[in-house]
Amino acid sequence: MHRSLTVYFHQRQAESNSMKKIIFSLLLVTGLINTASAVEGNIEAGKAKSGMCAACHGANGLNPSPNFPNLAGQHADYIAKQLQSFKAGNRTDAMMAPMAAGLSEQDMADLGAFYASQSRSGEKPADATTVAGNESVAAAPKFVADAAIGKSIYELGDASRSIAACISCHGKEGRSDVLVYPNLAKQHSAYIEKQLQNFKAGTRKDPAMNQFAAALSNEEIQHIGAYFVDTKAVANVKVRQPVVSAALTEHAVAGKVKAAACGACHGSDGNALVAMYPKLAGQNAIYIAKQLADFKAGDASGRNDPVMAGMVAALSEQDMLELGSYFASQKSSAGNGKANDLGKQLYFGGDAARGITACAACHGVMGKGMAKAGFPSVAGQHTDYLVSQLAKFKQKSRSNDKNKMMRSIAKKLKKADVDALTQFMSSL
Ligand code: HEC
Ligand code: HEC
Ligand code: HEC
Ligand code: HEC
Repeated sequence: MHRSLTVYFHQRQAESNSMKKIIFSLLLVTGLINTASAVEGNIEAGKAKSGMCAACHGANGLNPSPNFPNLAGQHADYIAKQLQSFKAGNRTDAMMAPMAAGLSEQDMADLGAFYASQSRSGEKPADATTVAGNESVAAAPKFVADAAIGKSIYELGDASRSIAACISCHGKEGRSDVLVYPNLAKQHSAYIEKQLQNFKAGTRKDPAMNQFAAALSNEEIQHIGAYFVDTKAVANVKVRQPVVSAALTEHAVAGKVKAAACGACHGSDGNALVAMYPKLAGQNAIYIAKQLADFKAGDASGRNDPVMAGMVAALSEQDMLELGSYFASQKSSAGNGKANDLGKQLYFGGDAARGITACAACHGVMGKGMAKAGFPSVAGQHTDYLVSQLAKFKQKSRSNDKNKMMRSIAKKLKKADVDALTQFMSSL
């Protein structure tokens, strides 16, 4: 995967700058997802190993001092990845380097699991004294950080300067649903500002964050810090779901039996022959399981289809996982779409002027989506089906996309864009 992406990047070096930036971000995102813990962490073991961390990060991963980031409620994979980065020297910090040096992959996974299981909710707002409206701000015409400006950058970004909306990765008020993106809610604002400065200076490396932070002014960084004093705690601390990967083959075997009921429409191997039915072959297992759960929940989830509602009514969560694993293990047949320039350009580059994010950022350079994040594959999908879904997102009759990830994009697409994009995606 890494290799093919690297090759891909070289092939495209001649193309525009913005394209380069996007491919860089993709290398990053894919790398993250691939490196996400190969080993499962254990909460109890992590707790036992966290003794030496407590001096700085507090016994439960909360230290009121803004010098030390809160770890409680952070995603386990993200913590393990940062420990790996400190160990490898990709992220430098005088205090953390020696701490991480002695940790094994298992230790990192255990520590991640432990801190992820702790709650960030009891904590009082960090660094409240540095914020606008506080009397510590003197009468002199001094800079005052403004949480409202921070919020607007966070939620909208600034397309004219290639700053993506932070909310699209870090989630509403900094509670990120996607395990590879860190939670920012109730993090010390001084720490957030320091990290943005590190990304800006390039001393902390992350292609996407480096690009956004470089475009932010020092004042804007302080506005963003101020916004985080106001955000609510990480509410639902999720320990990594024990999904798929390890047990994929077992699940797939069990799923095959249950998939008999689906063959009439989706094809026995998930390659639907009729264009109005989506192909499921090679689709990501977590995504399929989520769709099945969403169809079952109906209106409450925002995805409703009378045919599918009947199919899923009797399915358990386990059934859904097995069905997902089975279809994910099948090979997708070639799609009916044709590659074209407009589709390619929008897919890889988006349209900053119209606020359209590049599809490739989430659906991947090869169109295969992002399995762990639950982002669907669109490669080789029937064009009719793709068109129908973009229309549903646009009309909001499908609204099961977290943070309006698709609705906010679909509403900006014109008919010509949809035609070009769906042809292009199907051709991948
Ligand atoms: C001597 C104090 C100290 C000790 C002990 C310490 N840390 Fe840290 N830790 C820090 C500081 C300071 C930072 C912020 C570094 C920066 O600014 O990039 C940090 C950052 C981190 C981060 C990154 C957080 C983020 O949001 O990106 C993780 C994860 C972490 N520490 C885990 C640990 C673990 C696990 C241990 C125990 C094995 C530990 N630390 C022990 C001081 C310490
Ligand atoms: C394309 C997805 C994406 C977008 C958009 C994005 N980020 Fe990030 N952000 C990341 C990733 C990935 C990391 C972790 C990098 C690493 O592993 O070191 C990160 C890390 C951070 C961190 C450090 C967190 C910590 O615990 O150390 C801060 C602060 C941050 N981002 C703020 C922002 C702000 C502010 C914006 C908007 C201007 C933004 N991000 C937009 C993906 C994104
Ligand atoms: C009678 C035909 C029919 C049968 C049988 C059927 N489906 Fe579907 N399925 C559909 C239709 C139509 C859609 C598209 C609904 C929409 O537009 O949202 C769909 C959509 C889906 C999706 C969403 C795909 C995506 O890319 O988002 C999944 C997953 C799915 N079906 C799985 C199954 C499974 C598993 C079974 C067997 C238990 C099954 N279906 C049986 C007709 C059928
Ligand atoms: C910020 C991430 C993100 C971006 C950018 C994005 N998508 Fe999506 N897309 C998603 C997610 C997440 C879903 C699935 C939502 C759900 O049902 O859980 C999805 C679903 C879809 C679907 C329906 C797939 C199916 O099998 O039903 C289509 C079609 C689609 N996106 C097309 C696009 C196009 C075209 C673009 C670019 C113009 C784009 N997406 C940009 C995240 C994104």
